[in-house]
Amino acid sequence: MSTAAAIGAPDFADSGLADSGLADSGHADSGLRPYAVVGDAIPEPLSEAAGDPVRGRAIVVNRQAGLCLLCHTGPFPEERFQGNLAPNLAGAGSRWSVGQLRLRIVDASRFNPDTIMPPYYRTEGLTRVAPAFAGKPVLSAEQIEDVVAFLATLRD
Ligand code: HEC
Repeated sequence: MSTAAAIGAPDFADSGLADSGLADSGHADSGLRPYAVVGDAIPEPLSEAAGDPVRGRAIVVNRQAGLCLLCHTGPFPEERFQGNLAPNLAGAGSRWSVGQLRLRIVDASRFNPDTIMPPYYRTEGLTRVAPAFAGKPVLSAEQIEDVVAFLATLRD
């Protein structure tokens, strides 16, 4: 739990810890791969294998895994029910770099401490986690990369 403050710190961009990598990475105990935040992005992939946009799309529209469409709309004509609580995902790949998208999915609360968007790759500082999910991120490192690879294809 000692890293909770560093991981959850909303003012990470100004903290000077942000660029140091280690001080701001997943902790060994957390079960997460370490990652370094640089500015408002995670420039390096979380997994060795490159993300697959087709798998990423499936995660985004999946009602159990990603749940993204609970809040977001997007270019998913086959999905009847889409959310209206969050920006349309269309064009996300033009608005954000791959590294910026990665950090937004990993932990959106770094940009807006009050965000309703869940942190998809964080295990610390969470409340209301069912016991079966305690200590596990919502998505695996590979799934994060798949989602990021898909979002990067949304150019308009
Ligand atoms: C519970 C609601 C909710 C869920 C679920 C959710 N998001 Fe979000 N998301 C938001 C909100 C609200 C924002 C606007 C910024 C903020 O408040 O953090 C946002 C912002 C974003 C952005 C930046 C949008 C932009 O272009 O400005 C991206 C990309 C994104 N979400 C992707 C995803 C993906 C991919 C998933 C599923 C893996 C997801 N979100 C799940 C609520 C949600």
